[in-house]
Amino acid sequence: MPEFNKLNRTFARRIGKRLSNQNKELLANVLPTYLFSNELVTFKSHQKKYLEIGFGMGEHLFNQIVINPENLYIGVEVYLNGIASFLKLVAKSQNDNFLIWPNDVDMILKDIPNRSLEGVYVLFPDPWHKRRYMKKRLMNKERVEFLKSKLKTGGFIAFASDIEDYFENVKKIFLEDKELIIQNTDFLLPHAGYIITKYHQKSIRENREAQFLQAILARET
Ligand SMILES: C[S@@+](CC[C@H](N)C(=O)[O-])C[C@H]1O[C@@H](n2cnc3c(N)ncnc32)[C@H](O)[C@@H]1O
Repeated sequence: MPEFNKLNRTFARRIGKRLSNQNKELLANVLPTYLFSNELVTFKSHQKKYLEIGFGMGEHLFNQIVINPENLYIGVEVYLNGIASFLKLVAKSQNDNFLIWPNDVDMILKDIPNRSLEGVYVLFPDPWHKRRYMKKRLMNKERVEFLKSKLKTGGFIAFASDIEDYFENVKKIFLEDKELIIQNTDFLLPHAGYIITKYHQKSIRENREAQFLQAILARET
């Protein structure tokens, strides 16, 4: 399996706006209860497990945990104000069916047991428009291959982008992969449990159309 180059960061910022005292407090006192560890994932073995990479402000992750309380969601995000924002949403609910990794997904991806996930969500990953930065894009052939190794047979990758060439690129990777079968024919329709995110709202305001892909892993053995 590929080792991802830690210097080739797929994210732009970890701290944007200054952290408010309330956000600092959430990160210091609430986050530790939900911190991802491989042991915890294995311990919660009775639950179906899903991974969301780059959950932003956490709207979609929160919606999934609320509508599917029987499942376990691993949410990964480097942006600290985003993590705090998700913890604020959670504070108003009774849900505890999630674990959070507050850093680069590459630090934990290899620790997630192979063939353990039912699904992976990668929604509106950072576009990295400029040609010289395109290699920073989160979704590429290598990463799709790595994500596949973490999926159970029949598991899915749900991808969304409002950047035409990014979407077409990932669609091509999925189409060329003999083990992935794209499920949706209407790319304007999101997957089950989708809820419009802050980033998606911004793309609507800026007249970019969001497109969605859901691919199922159909390996033979
Ligand atoms: C454009 S935002 C989209 C956020 C959210 N999915 C949405 O739809 O609103 C992409 C997010 O991915 C996060 N991200 C990028 N690379 C990451 C990485 N390697 N590990 C974890 N998060 C990452 C960024 O911090 C950012 O919040």
